[in-house]
Amino acid sequence: MKKNVVVAIDGYSSCGKSTLAKALAKKLHFIYVDSGAMYRAVTLYFLRNQTDLHQHDLIIDALDHIDLNFHSRDYQSHILLNGEEVSEEIRQMPVSENVSKIASIKEIRQAMVKQQQKMGRSKNMVMDGRDIGTVVFPDAQVKLFMTADPKIRAERRYKELKAKGEEVSLEEIFENIAHRDYQDTTRQESPLIRAEDAIILDNTNLTETEQLDFAIENLKPYLV
Ligand code: DC
Repeated sequence: MKKNVVVAIDGYSSCGKSTLAKALAKKLHFIYVDSGAMYRAVTLYFLRNQTDLHQHDLIIDALDHIDLNFHSRDYQSHILLNGEEVSEEIRQMPVSENVSKIASIKEIRQAMVKQQQKMGRSKNMVMDGRDIGTVVFPDAQVKLFMTADPKIRAERRYKELKAKGEEVSLEEIFENIAHRDYQDTTRQESPLIRAEDAIILDNTNLTETEQLDFAIENLKPYLV
């Protein structure tokens, strides 16, 4: 296999990017990095410290006190915030409701992108997010841009959270997804856009196996 292959997966919230990324990483023995988890962990830090999210100076100063690390187990991505495993907590609603705001701050993005680029320098990896094919790895060998009907996305997310015992309504989730789509695509810093050379993958009517096959097919030239 050609060395240092990067698969960049971008797309809207809750459209199964991480499901596909994990399955691909497992199949190809690549490492998997969930870049959204980094923005979520930073958001959790600010919520816990009750930082005023309007005060950019405080937020930027706090970056020096935030240490993020990943450890991989069974191709699930576990994230450590200052040494504490927070993978579950970053998926809960308080973080989901505030993360877009944090992810729109230029200095935060610069710090995250730097860390992400470092991780991809010497390894075969699948990374998912919003700006992976456009900003983090513009030279990635394969770029996928994922999308799906917002109603289907909300239903999938609703089932996921309910299964974990969270008290949420479908309407609340739908609104959160719509809000995040709006923020992600209209923000000034690295908005979510499809890289010109990214392949569109609409999985509204695809099974997980079908979308994995689609991705593998597009990766074939790089797997020899
Ligand atoms: O993929 P996710 O829903 O866990 O991402 C959480 C938030 O972080 C989402 O609002 C978009 C933002 N994000 C980003 O701006 N850039 C990335 N590379 C990944 C996520």
